[in-house]
Amino acid sequence: MELLPSTEQNSLARQSHTSQQLIAELEAHLTQVTAQLLTAKANLANESADHRRTEDEFRRSTEQLRELSARLQSVREEERTRISRAIHDELGQTLTGLKMDVAWLQGHLDPQQLALLTKTQAMSDLIDTTVQIVRRISTELRPGILDLGLVATIEWQLQEFQTRTGIKSKLISSLEETTLDDDGSTVVFRIFQEILTNVVRHAGATQVEVTLEETAAFLTLQVADNGRGMTASEIDSPRSIGLLGMQERARLRAGEVQFHGAPGQGTTVTVRLPLEAASGGGTK
Ligand SMILES: Nc1ncnc2c1ncn2[C@@H]1O[C@H](COP(=O)(O)OP(=O)(O)OP(=O)(O)O)[C@@H](O)[C@H]1O
Ligand SMILES: [Mg+2]
Repeated sequence: MELLPSTEQNSLARQSHTSQQLIAELEAHLTQVTAQLLTAKANLANESADHRRTEDEFRRSTEQLRELSARLQSVREEERTRISRAIHDELGQTLTGLKMDVAWLQGHLDPQQLALLTKTQAMSDLIDTTVQIVRRISTELRPGILDLGLVATIEWQLQEFQTRTGIKSKLISSLEETTLDDDGSTVVFRIFQEILTNVVRHAGATQVEVTLEETAAFLTLQVADNGRGMTASEIDSPRSIGLLGMQERARLRAGEVQFHGAPGQGTTVTVRLPLEAASGGGTK
């Protein structure tokens, strides 16, 4: 017995065929999309592995650069010490010899030979000036931090700075001497020199105030000028190699350097170093 007329049966069969076709197409499409998703997932996994590798390489080369920079600093210090000694000892001795020879000459001249006596006196004065220049160059190359101590060396450098630039400079410190070791003292002193150089070159300041203190486990050096004020973009700029160098020097001793500037109201640079030589990389 036929339930439906044959035309309707045909139509139903057609519809069922169409839905099967649709399902088949959908399945095919799904398979294709799944395959695409799997490929994308695999690519992502690869990319993230690549990314991790790049990150690792970046971290490694940054670390190597830090070590290189530490090595460079320490080689520079050694070189400066060597040149400073050579200038001080060899040139110093030669000049002393020369001074004695001139003194001998003066002693053997006839008191009547006025022109020659004046000339030898001028030579002797010139030698004295040269001795002082040699002493200054040699001290600037390698200040006797080890002999004088950090506080006295900073005081001396500030005095020199004032004489040379005419910028009124004051040191405020109740510190007799620091407990920071020689290596740390050299780091602080070199940063201090760099800060003063920047003041002369960029600040247009008329006054500089330096404070030096030890609190708890830190030595803090602060240099404040009354110049134009460092800008935020200068502080953050990757081109500020001098500023970066100071921070890097301090970082090698697990310390830090902070810059603060206010337009027209000057710049303050703060250097903080832990007193214990818990070095963040070491300078040797
Ligand atoms: N005391 C300051 N007052 C005002 N601006 C400053 C001061 N110190 C630094 N700057 C500004 O910050 C910039 C970056 O200083 P940084 O020491 O890095 O570079 P530099 O002194 O120009 O060159 P370099 O130190 O490499 O010879 C300077 O060019 C200057 O514009
Ligand atoms: Mg500079």
